[in-house]
Amino acid sequence: MKILVVGGGGREHALLWKLREDRPDARLFATRPNAGMARVAEGVDLAPTDVDGLSTWASGEEIDLVVVGPEGPLATGLVDRLRTRGIPAFGPTATAARIEASKAFSKDLMARAGVPTARYRTFTDADEAEAYIRKGEAPVVVKASGLAAGKGAVVCSTIDEAVETAREMLEGGAFGDAGELVVVEEFMHGEELSVFGLTDGEKVLTLLPSQDHKRVGEGDTGPNTGGMGAYAPLSLVTPDLMRRVREEVFLPTLEALARAGAPFRGVLYAGLMLSEAGPRVVEFNCRFGDPEAQVVLPLLESSLLDLMLPIASGGSLEMDERDVRWRSGAALTTVVASRGYPGDYVKDLPIDLPDAATSDPDVLFFHAGTRVDGGRPVTAGGRVLAVTGRGTTLQEARDRSLRGAAAVNFDGAHFRRDIGWREFARSEATRP
Ligand code: AMP
Ligand code: GLY
Repeated sequence: MKILVVGGGGREHALLWKLREDRPDARLFATRPNAGMARVAEGVDLAPTDVDGLSTWASGEEIDLVVVGPEGPLATGLVDRLRTRGIPAFGPTATAARIEASKAFSKDLMARAGVPTARYRTFTDADEAEAYIRKGEAPVVVKASGLAAGKGAVVCSTIDEAVETAREMLEGGAFGDAGELVVVEEFMHGEELSVFGLTDGEKVLTLLPSQDHKRVGEGDTGPNTGGMGAYAPLSLVTPDLMRRVREEVFLPTLEALARAGAPFRGVLYAGLMLSEAGPRVVEFNCRFGDPEAQVVLPLLESSLLDLMLPIASGGSLEMDERDVRWRSGAALTTVVASRGYPGDYVKDLPIDLPDAATSDPDVLFFHAGTRVDGGRPVTAGGRVLAVTGRGTTLQEARDRSLRGAAAVNFDGAHFRRDIGWREFARSEATRP
């Protein structure tokens, strides 16, 4: 069996790692793999968004499954093109990927489907946006509608800041085309949660819930990043809450997508805010989360490949949550980042990772922004590695993750030591 994973970050390394576990005999390929992926997969020197190049290559190689990691190639129509050529591809079509690629589309769809989310309005005109913002209250959230690498949402603590942010997006060209349409929405209070739903467009199978840490600094301070760490599962998520997430979020959204002529196959990621009234949607993504995939996949004992294949080949999802086996315990990942990230940072710094650090099977070094240069790994991005620890308790998982993160050496390496703090605070609070 031949499998191609598209994308070259931490999430894609975790996908390859899991697929390798599921099928040790498979031939794995990856587009421009990072240094960690290059050890598991053969490289294909094509850009993830090279739709023509990739579909021609996959067809020539008779690839049995293509798994698309990032949103960019999904929004560009890679899966549409692969399907036209009869190649099984895991991920939504470009029309369905609009659930992430256009926040305006996503909000309108939720409104029509009655899915709980923040109140909002969309604008193309800065004066109209300003008038609306001035009528409301702070804090308020201003978002570029298009894809902005996770940086297009600005939580504004004052009305003036919100007005200025909307103007920068609509008139100042901040975020380019992505900011030509702006969503202004109500700020929601509560705790955030990520849930992945594997879906054939109709049925959905939810995976273990996880929690990301988006701010760069400890205690959730400083600017937003792509994610500095994550853990799974969360003690706060009860079976009843998961049932509500399925029934109030996933199923109506999938039905509305199908009705809009955009049936969604692949993994739908619901970013949720837990309010007193129940789960409300912060955003949808059309792919696995990064770094959430680096904690959810290492806990999945069942075959991911078996879950993906029917979805990718146009069949229906025969399994449900009861058929999926999970390892007991928890996983926690710590992202080791470049100095300066999420602002400017330098690349090409040599990375030192002692062999001794990599011998524990419950410490997993997922490469993100790395590449091989002259036979050794060097930094190639802001988020360099995600070090996942597994354990019978979250505490044990954290200790392993932190030990692994501390063993990664490159100039300016930094990481948060408080990933999972909300869960630890909860267990403190409930201790007799
Ligand atoms: P997004 O790009 O929509 O995922 O937003 C990025 C982050 O901004 C989210 O993970 C939240 O932490 C925060 N955020 C976005 N929208 C809201 C909202 N309506 N209320 C509170 N926080 C939000
Ligand atoms: N961890 C957030 C994301 O993948 O969008």
